[in-house]
Amino acid sequence: MLTYNGTVPGQTWRVRPGDRIEVLLRNELDTPTNLHTHGLVVSPQDNGDNPFISVDPGQSFEYRFDLPEDHPTGVFWYHPHRHGTVADQVFGGLYGALIVEGDEVPVSRERVLVVSDITLDGDGELASASAPQVMMGREGDLVLVNGQVRPELTARPGERERWRVINACTSRYLHLALPGQDLALLGIDGGHEPEVREVEQVLLAPGNRADLLVTTRGGTSELRSLGYDRGAMGMVRGGGDLSGPTTLATLAVSGDQAAALGPVPERPADPDLRDRPLDERREIAFTMTMGGGMMGPGRRGMMMDLGFDGRPFDADRVDQQTAAGSVEEWTITNPTPMDHPFHLHVWPMQLIETHGDQVSEPTWRDVVNVPANGRVRTLVDFTHHPGRSVYHCHILDHEDAGMMAVVETR
Ligand code: C2O
Ligand code: CU
Ligand code: CU
Repeated sequence: MLTYNGTVPGQTWRVRPGDRIEVLLRNELDTPTNLHTHGLVVSPQDNGDNPFISVDPGQSFEYRFDLPEDHPTGVFWYHPHRHGTVADQVFGGLYGALIVEGDEVPVSRERVLVVSDITLDGDGELASASAPQVMMGREGDLVLVNGQVRPELTARPGERERWRVINACTSRYLHLALPGQDLALLGIDGGHEPEVREVEQVLLAPGNRADLLVTTRGGTSELRSLGYDRGAMGMVRGGGDLSGPTTLATLAVSGDQAAALGPVPERPADPDLRDRPLDERREIAFTMTMGGGMMGPGRRGMMMDLGFDGRPFDADRVDQQTAAGSVEEWTITNPTPMDHPFHLHVWPMQLIETHGDQVSEPTWRDVVNVPANGRVRTLVDFTHHPGRSVYHCHILDHEDAGMMAVVETR
């Protein structure tokens, strides 16, 4: 596998709002790479969270990420973001958890569960993806939790655990459930639930994270993905096989009842951008069009041209120019027959409409799934961090194939 410092996943980084993270990235791979702090609200410029940097094999780069004092707490992650090699490198094992602390809840244990998938060939080497797999977004034969196949977790009854779950899969959707246990949602991405809410299941598109509370009951339960139909492209079927039901891990609960913990403290409400004046409205569409061009970096002989608004990614073109300090409404449409998770770097998005329904509570996400033939509406906060960055499909094969665009704020 490909690794950060020899482990899969890479080491978990724990930071607090106001912290500075310094990273020396040394590229010992044989392909160019770089580093992205997914979900962090930090500067995209220079040696910050800059997706335009390329670190060649044998080269090093010093990153510095400065978290503002009001940075949201929650579960984030880091992974490579060098256009053209992202899917191969993440699929190969390059990802790690990044926890922004500061919203402690009394729990008996915290677990970080990084879920990924991978395919190995008969020799135990990383398998490469075929053109149809790339077009749908490759999914691995093996689903891993912290680098292991179906690990067994153990606990005593009556424990309250905090589970930080990251969907680090290249393309697989996870529809999480833990039947037999009590599951509650603290937040998704950088967003916090106004009230801790009991849930039966949580859908995580590639790139999404969940902050969960698990209150244990005696017995053995499976952490499962229930399966999710993310669509199909003509003859290339999705539904049946892709993102199908699977067991991720087991949780064996036995022994003496654990001591009761204090109540979950009330959590501060997330801000609501609807209280701010709107500066601009835009509409952005995921597009897949019959392509002429078969080759090119990351294209792998794809028959389709993937992009936004009919154009593939071009690092030298600015697709959306926004004003520093503004609030914009972005409507993301998906006229294609498969789902695409929309991800915007640096600038937080507040979801205000999904499947035609208004979203009443402040709901902050950095990855929003846009269903096939559907749309979502968001508000984007450009208050902080002028500079140039990207939005893209978080099916990473699509991103490498050109489903990415440039946004510049100044
Ligand atoms: Cu998790 Cu632009 O990526
Ligand atoms: Cu990201
Ligand atoms: Cu996509």
